[in-house]
Amino acid sequence: MSQPLRLGIAGLGTVGTGLVELLRAHGPRLGINTGRSLQIAGVSARDRAKKRAVSLEGITWFDAPERLAADPSIDVFVELIGGDGIAKTAVEAALSAGKHVVTANKALLAAHGYELAKLAEKNGVALNFEAAAAGGIPVIKTLREALAANQIRRVYGILNGTCNFILTQMQKEHRSFAEVLAEAQAMGYAEADPSFDIGGFDTAHKLTLLTSLAFGTRVALDEIDVEGIETISQADIEAADDLGFRIKLLGVALMTESGIEQRVHPAMVPQHSAIAEVSGVTNCVAIDGDFVGNLLLAGPGAGAKATASAVASDILDISRGDTPLPFGVPAAKLKPYKRARLGQHQGAYYVRLSVYDRPGAMARIAGRMGEQEVSLESIVQRRPRGARPGIDARLAPGLPTPVILITHETTEAAIRAALDAIHKDGEVSEKPQMIRIEPL
Ligand SMILES: NC(=O)c1ccc[n+]([C@@H]2O[C@H](COP(=O)([O-])OP(=O)(O)OC[C@H]3O[C@@H](n4cnc5c(N)ncnc54)[C@H](OP(=O)(O)O)[C@@H]3O)[C@@H](O)[C@H]2O)c1
Repeated sequence: MSQPLRLGIAGLGTVGTGLVELLRAHGPRLGINTGRSLQIAGVSARDRAKKRAVSLEGITWFDAPERLAADPSIDVFVELIGGDGIAKTAVEAALSAGKHVVTANKALLAAHGYELAKLAEKNGVALNFEAAAAGGIPVIKTLREALAANQIRRVYGILNGTCNFILTQMQKEHRSFAEVLAEAQAMGYAEADPSFDIGGFDTAHKLTLLTSLAFGTRVALDEIDVEGIETISQADIEAADDLGFRIKLLGVALMTESGIEQRVHPAMVPQHSAIAEVSGVTNCVAIDGDFVGNLLLAGPGAGAKATASAVASDILDISRGDTPLPFGVPAAKLKPYKRARLGQHQGAYYVRLSVYDRPGAMARIAGRMGEQEVSLESIVQRRPRGARPGIDARLAPGLPTPVILITHETTEAAIRAALDAIHKDGEVSEKPQMIRIEPL
């Protein structure tokens, strides 16, 4: 057997301890399979005295991750700290010292992926990040290797378990966004400050890596249109149900004639589609390639074991001597990102209006749509589910009535202009709700 592959693991939290556990459980078998044993040569975290779920006896401790990163005793630096502070310094130190890097850090790659890929290439080492986009779902290698021969047309998915859990519970249990968010926090599925997840930013970080792999472009986090799920109400969930849709927070990257659309937003997907069935904290990624057609990968997008599984697969590639280019093509060949303006987005839309019960209100609304050449597939005035006339206060005369519109295909610029005008006309009691219908 050849020399062991010596690992330096920085970060011993959820993923780091999961990886140590995996290496303890399967390391000997993996060493035999690849012909190279795996050895944890050094570890680093913030607090040496902290009690860990795994024993670190006999492993050299480093107070500073950047020292571990460049230490002669390791071959691979495994960065499981997170963020782009000390993690970035340490990853740069490792790459510059000629060490292979494995990381699960989407924030780091979304902000600095291009520069780090160049640095890895310059030093002839790997920068592997299978765990960074969808946790345990092997989507990076799928895009970079298994589908490399295809022209990818669209990649999209449910990339945030917290949001999918909240939307699923709202739909199944008919509860409000705020109630379900509180439950998700109590169950540990949502952070105390949930804004990064529910605002769509976590999905945006992951999406930008998939976009780069799918279209061979430089990572472009600033070029994403991001909307979160905070405005989704029970009224939208119920209307979606009645219309044959489910609401999902999607990250979508789509190649168009005018550039790439990268967008994160709640979307209506048909109830009968496979993606509508992806519920709870489960994630999925759908890929549409010109020769392979449509693929859907679904599974755990987070968690100690699932994420460790992805990190370990990156380590095994290095152990086998397989060190692919980070984004599948030389960094110099990654094209500058060309953004398609969201205003040019073509699609059908769901709109929910709270319309004052006044003569002519609906005619004026239809007129505003007509001015923008937005044609309507359906208009439904719907009372809240279970509300009984004469009894339920929500149906008292004079209160605004929910009206649901489904448009035919139009442009985003047109529907936005129509809704702005409707809002300004004062026929509605609140800002119109608009949700894109994603064709699947
Ligand atoms: N959790 C998941 O399911 C998941 C899934 C996919 C990807 N990821 C990514 O994996 C990475 C790690 O996530 P995690 O959930 O394992 O995080 P975590 O549980 O918060 O663990 C972070 C670790 O980094 C250490 N650390 C923090 N600041 C440090 C510093 N200045 N110097 C040295 N060590 C420092 C912490 O040390 P102490 O333990 O001493 O405090 C801790 O061991 C992140 O990039 C995350 O985005 C996580």
